Amino acid sequence: PLPANIYPNRLNSAGVDLAHRPTMTTLRERLAELARDFPEVKPESIQHGLMRKVRGPQDAASLVGTIHDATLADVEAMIPRALAAQPAWDALGGVERAALLDKAADLCEENSDRIISLCQREAGKTPVDAVLELREAVDFLRYYACEARLLFSAPQPLPGPTGEENLLRLHGRGVFATIAPWNFPLAIFIGMASAAMAAGNSVIAKPAEQTPMIAALAVELCHQAGIPADVLQLAPGDGAIGAALTADPRISGVAFTGSVATAQAINRAMAAREGPIGKLIAETGGQNAMIVDSSALPEQVTRDVMSSAFQSAGQRCSALRVLYVQEDVADTMLAMIRGAFEALVIGDPADPATDVGPVIDAEAKASLDAHVAEMAARGYTVWQRDLPPACAKGTYVAPTIIEVGSIADVGEEHFGPVLHIARFPAGGLEQVITDINATGYGLTLGVHSRIGAVRRLVEAKARVGNLYVNRNQIGAVVGSQPFGGEGLSGTGPKAGGPHYVTAFATERVTCVDT
Ligand code: SER
Repeated sequence: PLPANIYPNRLNSAGVDLAHRPTMTTLRERLAELARDFPEVKPESIQHGLMRKVRGPQDAASLVGTIHDATLADVEAMIPRALAAQPAWDALGGVERAALLDKAADLCEENSDRIISLCQREAGKTPVDAVLELREAVDFLRYYACEARLLFSAPQPLPGPTGEENLLRLHGRGVFATIAPWNFPLAIFIGMASAAMAAGNSVIAKPAEQTPMIAALAVELCHQAGIPADVLQLAPGDGAIGAALTADPRISGVAFTGSVATAQAINRAMAAREGPIGKLIAETGGQNAMIVDSSALPEQVTRDVMSSAFQSAGQRCSALRVLYVQEDVADTMLAMIRGAFEALVIGDPADPATDVGPVIDAEAKASLDAHVAEMAARGYTVWQRDLPPACAKGTYVAPTIIEVGSIADVGEEHFGPVLHIARFPAGGLEQVITDINATGYGLTLGVHSRIGAVRRLVEAKARVGNLYVNRNQIGAVVGSQPFGGEGLSGTGPKAGGPHYVTAFATERVTCVDT
């Protein structure tokens, strides 16, 4: 029998209350203690391994720990183990699998201090972002547990005119490879893996090269919750590990979050395989805009532009890249935005006062700095903050605003604290939407307007996955705001939404002549 609480009573994680002084005092003490710990992690799945030191982005000299990366021989050994473990995991059924995912969620909450510490040290997250990361990971685990109970515990009878007994069942497809990004090193890592497991697949999970330690902790907690070691195996390493997994026909499906170019390479590699056609679920980039018309409330716009463009140092797929402001109000609006921009606190992510921490690594910094230099050389007006001297130790990019003519001037996505601003004339809204659609991306779009017809026009014409009206455009909440884009931004389905887990499943129908 199904437990009563399948879905509607699901609660999102409350996380850690950073505004509660005693909680914060205890957390700070614990984080200071954890910062003196430099673990050497050899995941259960690794027999050979290549030791690698992992360093954080806020200080090139700061060690996070040591990881044993997978070798190709390790990957070769993981695949048969995953194949062997999958049938029993599938046969366990949705209710049992959900109980283990729920337990893993509880363990994540119980280990919130370790998670926050690694999010800060390995990924350069501020306390607010680290807590949001923890909450999202817990929400994914519990949401997909609900889906497992709802969809994978009993066959669905299909009534109809045939007079026979028709039963529809969902099963895992086999072994999924999940390839995660560094920007949500816990939430997206565990989100993709838990959805695949909820559906009855075994998983070989490759974390981003920059963030293996937090992924290793997530896998450790899943195993502690009772998920078998061969059902969830960690494969840390560089792109060669991902390439070996995606090219292997024994891998039934790949869930990937990252760049468009890598998603296209995975798609080509999977298409070139012999045997069954694999399933690809990809969440990729964006060129996210916000449109502000003359009816918008300037204070609200300023607040929402700041968080959309600069929270998480702009390293969210959802982050605002190009702000369109109606000409009539542009000077006023820009003056307010620049005022707030000048007040952003740039610095150590461990400091609760910090708004903008480092970007993930030297390569990201070099690419962002090069973009800003190129835009300045092309004659666009650039405003840039000075970096505090302490930031020289890490990979910091000075928050930047660049005035452009339109979204087409920006080129590709620039994944960091760089905001472009364009003006549009009254009556120019449709052209703005056309220009945004012409990028080919379709992830998030913000609109600030008090005019219903403006909202309806944007809704009707914009090809985006997540439209945010009169608020910021980051921080989609699992279960309420399923997240993901279309076009160059991804294949769908949306993470944290009701159609996600089924994409990891295969359907079987039994028909009995009664
Ligand atoms: N889910 C994240 C957000 O909504 C994606 O970057 O901000």
